[in-house]
Amino acid sequence: MKTRLVSVPLARQPADGWLLFAFQDEPVPVPGSDPVSRRLDRMLKDWRARHDFIGKLNQVAVISSWESLPARSIVLAGLGKKKDFHVARFRQAAAAAAHTLRKHRLATLAVSLRAPDLPLAPELLAGHLAAALHYGHYAFTRYLTKDEDGPDRRMPDILFTDAPVRAPALARRLADTVAASEILKEVRDLANLPANEAAPAALAGAARALARKHGLACRVMDKAALQRKGCGALLAVGRGSRHEPRLIILRYPGTDRKLRPVALVGKTITFDTGGISIKPGKGMEWMKYDKCGGMAVLAAVLMAARLRLPRPVIALLPAAENMPGGDATRPGDIIRSYSGQTIEILNTDAEGRLLLADALSLAAEYKPAAIVDLATLTGASVVALGHVLSAVMGNRPEIVEQLRQAGETSGERLWPLPLLPEYDEDIKGAFSDLKNVGERGAGTIIGGTFLRHFVPESIPWAHLDIANTAYEESTKPYAPAGPTLFGARLLVEWLRNL
Ligand code: BES
Ligand code: ZN
Ligand code: ZN
Repeated sequence: MKTRLVSVPLARQPADGWLLFAFQDEPVPVPGSDPVSRRLDRMLKDWRARHDFIGKLNQVAVISSWESLPARSIVLAGLGKKKDFHVARFRQAAAAAAHTLRKHRLATLAVSLRAPDLPLAPELLAGHLAAALHYGHYAFTRYLTKDEDGPDRRMPDILFTDAPVRAPALARRLADTVAASEILKEVRDLANLPANEAAPAALAGAARALARKHGLACRVMDKAALQRKGCGALLAVGRGSRHEPRLIILRYPGTDRKLRPVALVGKTITFDTGGISIKPGKGMEWMKYDKCGGMAVLAAVLMAARLRLPRPVIALLPAAENMPGGDATRPGDIIRSYSGQTIEILNTDAEGRLLLADALSLAAEYKPAAIVDLATLTGASVVALGHVLSAVMGNRPEIVEQLRQAGETSGERLWPLPLLPEYDEDIKGAFSDLKNVGERGAGTIIGGTFLRHFVPESIPWAHLDIANTAYEESTKPYAPAGPTLFGARLLVEWLRNL
């Protein structure tokens, strides 16, 4: 995709399509009052009188202009009710338009930056639009050998009209967004790989290749190195699989080396069968997406590097496959984590917190200014919040609030859950320091409570449980089934403001 800023008004910009947004039950705002704009306005009013487009969120219509306008088609995207406006909803609406356009052959799409009814400055409007159009146009086609549409339908070039004549900040924002979107696409392809193509070693190879391409340092610890280091919790998770675990570490030095780094940790389970505490068969295929915390962190560190953010970043991706093999960990097994704390594994399906435990301890050794982990950790997060936004927990209210704020700005929204000492009782071990599951509900909080034991209290830390947002289980108007990389954009926004 190419993007271009042009100063002419929309009505004077020939294109295959013009993209317009409409709030629910409100007239479509047409930018301009020249004869072409008036013709467009009349055409839309006439069309709406005969169709049931009301501007509901994610409703999209592609209308032919019958050659009466400089655009062949008008693309109408519904934003939902005006009072409910949110960046997250705006991005969804734009993504829905791009997703619909996959079925149409448009080489160019023009959209106006003059949108007085949208509470977004042109710079943000252009950034969110470019990102969301990219996001919505994505499809994972690698294994389609006879896709009738042609496997890689091109994204239309986007022409932003009504742009100020000289707007270097806007232009830079747009270039950054396009570059970041390309990274998100690359990593989304990786996240989409089925487990037979993305064992820990294979993922490590792919991460190494991406790191090299984008100029980052990458180190991979294999099973022997993890044994020497004493990462008993990470190793316990991988024991049931023939595909040995890895710890993938990427480093971006930042443009301001005086700053202390931030450590990002992402759960990278390449497949979660549950292990000996095996999961039911129905829907188990989605557990190929149990690596999505790691994939979001990978995308975030690559984007931080591409955007040349000042803050140094260390990304740790503990990768393992949770399988019920002959040497698998059993319920009741007691293991020793890298931190020295012992853990009784009562349920081998609560494996994410185990490999994160060791990765968090290792992250702390870099003396980071903060640690944030992302993990598809608990099904209970779906019970608590559905699929709308994810839970954030931490050892300081400040970092939780910073991340929540970054979520509001980026459109990847978060909601805080409490980590009170009362919850600790539930994971106190009888035969060990800790046990890996509780018995008294609050599954998502218990996950966070467990992880907290592996981060020194002196380091600000937060945990995002993204099990409910990391992937779609069915095609949505704004995205195909598959990984969303939820958290990646939020982390970049947070790093930017740190
Ligand atoms: N990977 C799962 C969590 C998950 C569930 C991710 C649904 C995406 C969708 C995790 O490893 C798991 O199995 N958690 C258990 C924890 C329980 C045993 C305490 C769960 O949520 O049931
Ligand atoms: Zn599990
Ligand atoms: Zn899991």
